[in-house]
Amino acid sequence: MSKTPRTPRTFWDWYAAAYDLIWDSPFTTTFAAEIARRVCGDVIVDLGCGTGLATATLNAHVIGVDSSAEMLRRAKGRCDQVVLASAERTPLHDESVNAVVVANVVHACASPTAVVREALRIVQPGGRVLITWPSDHATIDSIANVQRSLGLPKLSAARAKRLATAFGILSAMTRVPRRATPAIMSELAVFVREPIRPQAPPALFGMQQMLCLRVRPAGRNP
Ligand SMILES: C[S@@+](CC[C@H](N)C(=O)[O-])C[C@H]1O[C@@H](n2cnc3c(N)ncnc32)[C@H](O)[C@@H]1O
Repeated sequence: MSKTPRTPRTFWDWYAAAYDLIWDSPFTTTFAAEIARRVCGDVIVDLGCGTGLATATLNAHVIGVDSSAEMLRRAKGRCDQVVLASAERTPLHDESVNAVVVANVVHACASPTAVVREALRIVQPGGRVLITWPSDHATIDSIANVQRSLGLPKLSAARAKRLATAFGILSAMTRVPRRATPAIMSELAVFVREPIRPQAPPALFGMQQMLCLRVRPAGRNP
């Protein structure tokens, strides 16, 4: 009897088991609200959706796309539809969705430019691509402090910190990229005419950078 070959587990598959223990938190609730303030539409794609936390509260049909089967298994309860695919090359049609959210992906994926190009391909003219990534001063300690100040109980914050430390080590060992803001901005410069000015929303204590690309109604990229 032949066996179906198994895809080797990636760092993201291992991280999936701990992801919500670290990130299903007051900080992510505020993060999701900041995302909801910036995107709207009937159909929204969460590109690199992980467990679906960032877009769980959007009032839209959310399609979660991720290359990790383990992340997607957990996203099923949050996204309306999930697609196992690379964020650089999805099976979604050109100009088929109202907005795309790329949350916490560009600092850690193989090619931010390729991911954002794909987001711009699938979004309709007049739509938005919201890109977010951790600020350079967002460390495990600073995030833990913010979580506490937003009301996460001490024990949960300590557990999240221990898990984040362990997975930080694993990501370095497995050579997951960790780009800083200048490197991300230089990759994204190809998509904008003016200098890039990402925002760090005060509600998130400056821990996240957010950049919203508005796709021209004429269909030309910004
Ligand atoms: C740090 S998690 C962020 C998850 C979610 N967007 C959030 O903010 O909670 C990064 C996610 O991007 C996914 N990812 C990384 N590179 C990818 C790629 N090239 N194609 C598809 N997904 C990718 C990982 O599997 C992981 O689920």
